[in-house]
Amino acid sequence: MNLMNHPIFRRFWYPTLSIAELAAGPRPFTLLGEEMVLWLAAPGRPAATRDRCPHRSARLSVDSTVVDGNIRCNYHGWQFNHAGACKVIPQLPGDVPPDRKNCVKSYRCEERYGFAWVCLEQPLQDIPHIRHSDDPAFRQVFEYEEDWNANMLRVGENALDIAHISFVHRQTFGNEEKPAAPVQTLVPLEHGVNFTCTVPVANHELQQRNLQIDAGETVRTVDIRWMSPCTFVLHFTYPTGLIHEICGFATPIANDRIRRIQFVLRNDTEADAPAENVARFDCNVIAEDRRMLESCDPDYPLEISQEAHMRLDRPGLAMREYLAGLILQHDPNAQLLRAELERAREVAAA
Ligand code: FES
Ligand SMILES: [Fe+2]
Repeated sequence: MNLMNHPIFRRFWYPTLSIAELAAGPRPFTLLGEEMVLWLAAPGRPAATRDRCPHRSARLSVDSTVVDGNIRCNYHGWQFNHAGACKVIPQLPGDVPPDRKNCVKSYRCEERYGFAWVCLEQPLQDIPHIRHSDDPAFRQVFEYEEDWNANMLRVGENALDIAHISFVHRQTFGNEEKPAAPVQTLVPLEHGVNFTCTVPVANHELQQRNLQIDAGETVRTVDIRWMSPCTFVLHFTYPTGLIHEICGFATPIANDRIRRIQFVLRNDTEADAPAENVARFDCNVIAEDRRMLESCDPDYPLEISQEAHMRLDRPGLAMREYLAGLILQHDPNAQLLRAELERAREVAAA
């Protein structure tokens, strides 16, 4: 079974569409195979319901409009509020009597970091908190939003993977002559994995301007967090004091498809480094990751014995251990995982 089919993944918050995009009108999104429509019920207040009108099954996302915060189906004009209740049937005078058949299924939906976050079922955890998101010393630069044929957990684990940068990113900041193998310090997190290390990086022309560092090489002090299940925050500090904090997300459209979203938080200004250049460099890096991640098996085994590992994979193994523990905690039938969890602990401790 592809791990992403496990029902536990329906109990997390995921970022979907940007509030800026929803300001232009209702939009469709698919989350873990559930087709939904999102719109703004009020400024900054997104809503999400199933993308089927209960009347004649038209897609609510097709040519619908927002009227008084309700979504209005374009077929016969019925209106539904953020909770999915039918509020207006234009062909009937007066109030619409409450009727289960008139309703459309709604989902929990909240705004955070400029995106509409959706959770399909009772949430297990809050939306991950990003440290500098409300710090006035930091600006937010939106960088990327695209769909990939990749598994959410592979993409998350890639963020914890220092060993790939010398190879996958040799055109942007890696150096294949000097494979990165820093000492990693793992720090426990309540809902994820965190480690710190220092990595030398190549510093080519565009990035020299973005960092305001002229040398062809520099060094990053790295603090990387994977926050269950789809968020990763890569906090880079450069010798000048510049902080470049990548906030990346891999929202599961299906078990083998994601919406890859990214913005960055920086403690500099537009005059120091134009947002366009900052985003251009990071998008080049993302394209390199995408090529490899779309080539990986969309199945993500928690069973440690199914893949080979090396010492630098310890953060990824810690992530698998965390996920196995979480599933065991909420799914007493998942006993098969227990032995694998023990094995993961042994490998991570070796
Ligand atoms: S199908 Fe939506 S109002 Fe008729
Ligand atoms: Fe990468």
